[in-house]
Amino acid sequence: MLQHARKGIYRKNSFRTTVEHYIEKYFTHEDNFYKINDNVRRLVNFSCLNLLDPFKVKFVGEMDVILCRNVLICFDLEARKKVIRGFHERLTDGRYLLLGHAESLMNISTAFTLKHFKHDMVYQKPPKLAVSMSSESLVKMVWSTTRRGE
Ligand SMILES: C[S@@+](CC[C@H](N)C(=O)[O-])C[C@H]1O[C@@H](n2cnc3c(N)ncnc32)[C@H](O)[C@@H]1O
Repeated sequence: MLQHARKGIYRKNSFRTTVEHYIEKYFTHEDNFYKINDNVRRLVNFSCLNLLDPFKVKFVGEMDVILCRNVLICFDLEARKKVIRGFHERLTDGRYLLLGHAESLMNISTAFTLKHFKHDMVYQKPPKLAVSMSSESLVKMVWSTTRRGE
């Protein structure tokens, strides 16, 4: 499976919903196949990972997006919670988790916000709340607190 993925070769029916512009830009048409261009291929690493092994999952590093289609369906509720906790830890604040169309985080996690786009829904790890205060406001706050003797 991984060797097949590494080759980056697809048939026409893999592009049922792909905009023509992207096929032309990122693939080379050879006979009945479409091969991903090397400049894109070089950006991708393929490897095997047991999502139920938190130690190995930690090694993946921080991620901007996780696409995980029809994998949660393989697990029971406890295992789903464990996998989603791992995804939450790995995602950068404010970034996205995409599941399969029939999958949801209902009863699994409340740590993500559901975002609705035109054709899809995605889960977002909430961004960190940015506490912004001008230095002038900060001085005023400290000054009034000091005057009240707090
Ligand atoms: C129903 S298939 C979905 C495959 C593919 N994502 C798709 O949508 O066509 C479920 C996949 O989950 C993978 N899987 C099952 N248990 C796993 C685990 N503990 N860690 C990582 N992947 C797992 C299986 O290897 C299988 O490829």
